Amino acid sequence: MSDKYTTLNPELYAYLLAQRSERDPVLERIARHNETLGTMAMAQIAPDQGAFLTVLARAIGAREAIEVGTFTGYSALCIARGLPADGRLLCCDIDPVHTATARGFWNEAGLGDRIELRVGPALDTLRALPATERFDFGFIDADKTAYHDYYEEVLARLRPNGLILFDNVLYQWSGQITREDATDENTVALRALNASLARDPRVEVVMLAVGDGLTIARKRREQE
Ligand SMILES: C[S@@+](CC[C@H](N)C(=O)[O-])C[C@H]1O[C@@H](n2cnc3c(N)ncnc32)[C@H](O)[C@@H]1O
Repeated sequence: MSDKYTTLNPELYAYLLAQRSERDPVLERIARHNETLGTMAMAQIAPDQGAFLTVLARAIGAREAIEVGTFTGYSALCIARGLPADGRLLCCDIDPVHTATARGFWNEAGLGDRIELRVGPALDTLRALPATERFDFGFIDADKTAYHDYYEEVLARLRPNGLILFDNVLYQWSGQITREDATDENTVALRALNASLARDPRVEVVMLAVGDGLTIARKRREQE
């Protein structure tokens, strides 16, 4: 098969970013704030991923969304922007400091009332939610070894045809998903997750080379 993919370089990536339709000054302030945190800035999703989350949430008419891994609020703001005025995003993160910063940015953006934050281990937060299929959209971007557990909890609460997105599924920035001698626990966990998602009959899955790899899983309807 001929190579049907494009390898990015800095010029092409800058060009691609310049073609986005929306520029959100608060998102740019979050990104600038994150740069002051040094290497932690890498935790934030990329701007094209953020724009993609907004478009996707809006396109599927998501009203109820959930995020696992919020940090300083960049991806949450992108998702919240894609929800209608009466939509709700529930954010789960263990870190009270960075999420307090996030709360400030969301208020600045005028979307604070659309976002609920629960600080604590995300698995506890998820397991405490009613097991009803209420969410339209889920985004998982926290500790990699728990992705599969987060998936099961979010899937149980996702409406049929809803979407769950997983960030960093290629894990190229920190390891190498396809390199056999990469055996750190995050790489191993992501490899297992990727393999099990592809075989999971409950979802339809595609992995995209956006950012550090982004998987989209759509929950199948019963009659499919
Ligand atoms: C990669 S960052 C999230 C980045 C965010 N999505 C963004 O775009 O800015 C991962 C986050 O997961 C959180 N986290 C790590 N382990 C967690 C756990 N067990 N429960 C909840 N949150 C956790 C960290 O505190 C951190 O804020």
